[in-house]
Amino acid sequence: MLEPKYVNESRAVKSAHVLPQDTNQYNTMFGGKLMSYIDDIAAISAVRHARKPVVTASTDSVDFLHPIKAGTSVCLESFVTWTHKTSMEIFVKVISEDLLTGKRVLAATSFLTFVALGEDGRPTEVPPVIPETDEEIMLHESAPARHEIRKLRKEDSRRFAQIFTTKKPWE
Ligand SMILES: CC(C)(COP(=O)(O)OP(=O)(O)OC[C@H]1O[C@@H](n2cnc3c(N)ncnc32)[C@H](O)[C@@H]1OP(=O)(O)O)[C@@H](O)C(=O)NCCC(=O)NCCS
Repeated sequence: MLEPKYVNESRAVKSAHVLPQDTNQYNTMFGGKLMSYIDDIAAISAVRHARKPVVTASTDSVDFLHPIKAGTSVCLESFVTWTHKTSMEIFVKVISEDLLTGKRVLAATSFLTFVALGEDGRPTEVPPVIPETDEEIMLHESAPARHEIRKLRKEDSRRFAQIFTTKKPWE
């Protein structure tokens, strides 16, 4: 078994202005733009933990809890909550901040799974995680239940993959 690492060692933080080009016709942030930030910061946490190249295996969900308005800022925080053999669960928290008043709102949360790859390009072992804070412990303890749900969903996806065709829709 690889030497365990503290959750804090994988923590990553990113802040960005929400500019007009990041928003839709309602003046709130595009979901896709935020999802790209989430995937990017989660990958940084995954590589910090594994110190190996990683790929996104899946995103459980991105829960948009609050609209993010143009002119505010978003602050994303991510860390590895739990690992299995070659996979890592990453939690990302998105806070939006009205920079003029300082009011902060939890705008979105997401759980993603990344897999570390060895030199042969195949999944390779990752270190276990040591949680320290109450939030980290809660997320670590609840992770196996999310892992089980993910396993069922993955089996479903593989079953569907047998059915879906790769034919062009107009043929
Ligand atoms: C993710 C990937 C490396 C898994 O490879 P695989 O040959 O299916 O390997 P395995 O079935 O042995 O699974 C390896 C690990 O990945 C996990 N995994 C695989 N698919 C998963 C999924 N959809 N969701 C969550 N975990 C998944 C497995 O649970 C396993 O974890 P464990 O070792 O901790 O138990 C492979 O499917 C892949 O390369 N996918 C494309 C990734 C990619 O390109 N991402 C960017 C998208 S644009």
